[in-house]
Amino acid sequence: MRFKSLFFHYINFFRSLPYYTSARLLVADFFIFTLYFLRSPYQVLKGQSDFNPYGETPYSTLDKIAKECQILSGDLVYDLGCGRGKTLFWLESHVGCRGVGVDNQPRFIRWAKRSASLFGFSRVQFIQEDFSKVDLRKASVIYLYGTAFPDEVIEALIENFKRASSEVKIITVTYPLSDFSPHFKTTHQFEGKFSWGKTPIYISEARNCTKGTILPSTLAASRQSRY
Ligand SMILES: C[S@@+](CC[C@H](N)C(=O)[O-])C[C@H]1O[C@@H](n2cnc3c(N)ncnc32)[C@H](O)[C@@H]1O
Repeated sequence: MRFKSLFFHYINFFRSLPYYTSARLLVADFFIFTLYFLRSPYQVLKGQSDFNPYGETPYSTLDKIAKECQILSGDLVYDLGCGRGKTLFWLESHVGCRGVGVDNQPRFIRWAKRSASLFGFSRVQFIQEDFSKVDLRKASVIYLYGTAFPDEVIEALIENFKRASSEVKIITVTYPLSDFSPHFKTTHQFEGKFSWGKTPIYISEARNCTKGTILPSTLAASRQSRY
């Protein structure tokens, strides 16, 4: 099993080469890859629960997500279940936006913080917390990649999403939020590649403009185009 996931890591690394937008990202990834030999992220989550398998978004798919979702340098992206933090490192390098990574695994947060400080990713921060409890009011984009979460987890997350700004864009992989709540509408859908195959990716927004703490105009003004 370990050999199989290492093999996927190598394949993924070579496929990702065109998406390494800076030498810093390449070196950071090499460091993260080295940590893999000490303990793989799959091992960290192994045996915890059936619905919590580890996986990372390939850089080619992140590139597509950033374009389709029009993530801009002024955005504040929350990666819910950030794992080792690679999504936010890529976004900072490529788009220049700020990011907050949230994960309930102390080891992942430790690794992500260490990589950020070693390689100078100064626009990202990492928080060890349950993602259904974290304060999302400042987020302009939320990314959720967890295809095996049970309905109760998604429902708890949706309650939390309702407390976010009314202008926030929420990206989910495989399922749209509208399948769970009429509060959200799907504004855009496209396909993304993951290690296990192609799957739809959805962008959702709140259906009615309920009050968010951040005024929509404030968020819009802070976003600048990179693409
Ligand atoms: C499939 S990985 C996604 C990694 C990363 N977002 C990416 O796209 O590369 C899902 C992550 O969600 C985290 N997770 C699962 N349940 C969580 C919870 N209740 N609160 C915070 N993180 C959670 C797991 O520890 C794991 O790191």
